[in-house]
Amino acid sequence: MCTLGVNIDHIATIRQARRTVEPDPVAAALLAELAGADGITVHLREDRRHIQDRDVRLLRETVRTHLNLEMAATEEMLAIAVDIKPDYVTLVPEKREEVTTEGGLDIVGQIARIGEIVNKLQGANIPVSLFIDAEPAQIAASAQIQAKFIELHTGQYAEARDEASRHRELKILTQGCEQAIKAGLRVNAGHGLTYWNVYPVASIPGMEELNIGHTIISRAALVGIERAVREMKQAIAGSI
Ligand code: PXP
Repeated sequence: MCTLGVNIDHIATIRQARRTVEPDPVAAALLAELAGADGITVHLREDRRHIQDRDVRLLRETVRTHLNLEMAATEEMLAIAVDIKPDYVTLVPEKREEVTTEGGLDIVGQIARIGEIVNKLQGANIPVSLFIDAEPAQIAASAQIQAKFIELHTGQYAEARDEASRHRELKILTQGCEQAIKAGLRVNAGHGLTYWNVYPVASIPGMEELNIGHTIISRAALVGIERAVREMKQAIAGSI
């Protein structure tokens, strides 16, 4: 069965709304793990709008499952990752003005630059995952630069408004997953997944880990993070 990486960025979003010390993402990670999270994911953005450097350092000490650091492919972030050594890094595109990550990383158009960053990270024993759209050329380029993982962007699937387009997007993800595995990549997925749309993605053959944030933290605000994580594990298993 697919594993669950809980993205706790929005715990830090609430804290930063007041620039105070609560709620602490380190405490949230601990509770999420106790409730069955298989991994903890945080995105250290260039503008530090939610997760702070201190959070990543402390999470490295406290996370008992695995820590996935999402970051832009920049020299600043590369230095931080090599210093902190998360269990894996997910490279994502980043624009200052966006509300959340929009679209996958363009590997084809910057293969030399991304390839160099992947080499440096993997040379430091940090496996790299590339957050990409499920396009054959992007998957082939990711395999060419020998990233260990890709994370398929599920945004278009999540935004599909009718059954036919949802079905079409799911087929694109399924074919992308198959192509990637044949090319030697391991496959994760995420973005926009919810309690209601997660099961078909979790059922894609070969899919390893789903990184899910907004829907879990939204539910956690109302029912508590342990229940929210437990219920997402059930949704992935198709039992709610
Ligand atoms: N995966 C990646 C690469 C992301 O950038 C995000 C958003 O931070 C997620 C997964 C989680 O998306 P959501 O918050 O919509 O579940």
